[in-house]
Amino acid sequence: MSAGSGSSGASPFPEAATLELVGVSKRYPGQREPAIEDLSLSVAAGEVCVLVGPSGSGKTTAMRLINRMIALSDGDILLGGRSVLGREPNELRREIGYVIQQIGLFPHHTVSENIATVPRMLGWEKSRIAARVRELLDLIGMNADEVGPRYPGQLSGGQRQRVGVARALAADPPLMLMDEPFGAIDPITRARLQDEFLRLQAQVGKTVVFVTHDIDEAIKMGDKIAILRQGGRLAQYAAPADLLTNPADEFVAEFVGADRALKRLGLSTLADVELTAAGGPMPGQGTIELAATVRDALSKVLASGGAPLTVLDEQGGAAGIVTLELLGSLLGDGELGDRAASDRKAGGEMLGDRAAGNGTTKAAGSAEQAA
Ligand SMILES: Nc1ncnc2c1ncn2[C@@H]1O[C@H](COP(=O)(O)OP(=O)(O)OP(=O)(O)O)[C@@H](O)[C@H]1O
Ligand SMILES: [Mg+2]
Repeated sequence: MSAGSGSSGASPFPEAATLELVGVSKRYPGQREPAIEDLSLSVAAGEVCVLVGPSGSGKTTAMRLINRMIALSDGDILLGGRSVLGREPNELRREIGYVIQQIGLFPHHTVSENIATVPRMLGWEKSRIAARVRELLDLIGMNADEVGPRYPGQLSGGQRQRVGVARALAADPPLMLMDEPFGAIDPITRARLQDEFLRLQAQVGKTVVFVTHDIDEAIKMGDKIAILRQGGRLAQYAAPADLLTNPADEFVAEFVGADRALKRLGLSTLADVELTAAGGPMPGQGTIELAATVRDALSKVLASGGAPLTVLDEQGGAAGIVTLELLGSLLGDGELGDRAASDRKAGGEMLGDRAAGNGTTKAAGSAEQAA
């Protein structure tokens, strides 16, 4: 998106910004325990950082500190290398897209008017606002003529949420804060919104802080995950694969769940795995696509009584064979079969490396978009 004027919907803030929290603490008045204590973490430009933790661990507080809805008790927050403390709060907030489940859209404004909120505050020309609204509705897969004139009450919950994301993106802010944006949505729509957000993010490459209660959502959405414990103390900050492979302590291990080995399999696709060679599709053998996750492959192999599957590439040719034995070695903790510990370790490392590589690809994609 290049800078433009007149009828172009182009934005003035094309660049994603780095975000750094430095020794941040927050004590609410009259509260004995701090809501956040000495929290430091940095988010690279164009990365999605997911904050996850139990209720009351300070996730929403952290978001409000970032856009200065509430005041810091201690520490500093830098956006694009610049302290938010030196910024005029209203101006700062226009540079930060904020999506929240509870407050949502202005009910007496149409969808178009809702999306136009920040561009209007910024004094954009009418034609430019109209073009931007159209572009954003298009981006979230909605028909501008059909949906633009409607009121929020005339949309489904999932549609409202998408409009909320479009509104937050309207002035192309360098930072997006998303506080449980898909929290109250049914699981199927939620999975769709997550996929859509990831697709959108691959295009716009924003720096995003995303809050969720749901570790599976965190693993799916995050380049990095920050796990907070009560009192806003950082338990671990790492890429999803690292978190699943090496939880820092019992709290994190419990939080990511006993099935973390399985979850880790969900981070890699069969394309990341060294498959057993195949001559061609075997008659009667089940098939699975190369783009499927290793976890899906395991489910399918188990469902077929442990029989191997032919893996098909995009052209429908045989890319290799996936066997229960191979999947067992990737699982790496001996839940499947009883391979030698050394084999398991090799498998675990292989998957760990690949999963980490996967994260890099995601980041590289965003960087390209930002460039
Ligand atoms: N305005 C306030 N005044 C006093 N205490 C507050 C205020 N807002 C939040 N708190 C307290 O600060 C702590 C962190 O709250 P916060 O809303 O940040 O948690 P959260 O991690 O977002 O929780 P949830 O997952 O339930 O949304 C809680 O103990 C909460 O009671
Ligand atoms: Mg909250």
